[in-house]
Amino acid sequence: MNVSVGQDWVRWHGDYEAPRSSLARRLAVVRCHLWRALGEAPRDPAGGRRLISLCAGDGRDVLPVLAAHPAGTDVRGLLLELDPELSGRARRTAGSMGLRSVDVRTVDAGAADTYRDVGRAHIVLACGVFGNLSDADMRRTVAALPALMVPGGIVIWTRGRGLGAGDRSDDVRDGFAAYGFLELAFVRPEDARFRVGMSRLRKANGARLEPGARLFQFL
Ligand SMILES: C[S@@+](CC[C@H](N)C(=O)[O-])C[C@H]1O[C@@H](n2cnc3c(N)ncnc32)[C@H](O)[C@@H]1O
Repeated sequence: MNVSVGQDWVRWHGDYEAPRSSLARRLAVVRCHLWRALGEAPRDPAGGRRLISLCAGDGRDVLPVLAAHPAGTDVRGLLLELDPELSGRARRTAGSMGLRSVDVRTVDAGAADTYRDVGRAHIVLACGVFGNLSDADMRRTVAALPALMVPGGIVIWTRGRGLGAGDRSDDVRDGFAAYGFLELAFVRPEDARFRVGMSRLRKANGARLEPGARLFQFL
């Protein structure tokens, strides 16, 4: 299946430039969580870590943190982004920051086959993803994450509260609880609609990705 970039995500990234915007505030929280995860996520026996960012955009949540954190150089980062303009930006930023162990791929992060040659990650980011999916795809993606992660690995995710009476981020939290994750942090500002969660995969649960399967497609 060919998936296309259905929206002007380059323009969407422009909101990051307004320092008081909800997106800029969300970015600060995500970076803080990633900083914490770099202190707390497990390592492989040789001391390294793998990080995967699904739908990575221009990588501004990950790249400056890897460049600044003392453990950042031990991380092999894989940024998956469908839009070539944004993935190109991420690639250039990684290069300008000297992050030689970051690989930016212009690919469909919703296709299980994208992960065929990818080792299990110690840290996963799914930011700006769940709010663009059907409920079924959100659940399917959360259910699939254990297949991409080492036991004890940490996932950082975001979701807007939505426009209705309930808070849609609670559905995502329920999903993580149902599929074997322990919540480490959840940020729900009173005066903003974004939410940021951080959860740890308790243990391996046998989840695997079927060849040819689809985890999600943006609405
Ligand atoms: C809301 S933005 C979030 C970007 C980034 N994670 C952030 O939080 O700044 C969603 C991103 O997902 C990308 N995207 C949409 N569908 C995708 C897919 N199937 N595979 C990879 N990236 C995708 C879009 O191009 C866009 O950059």
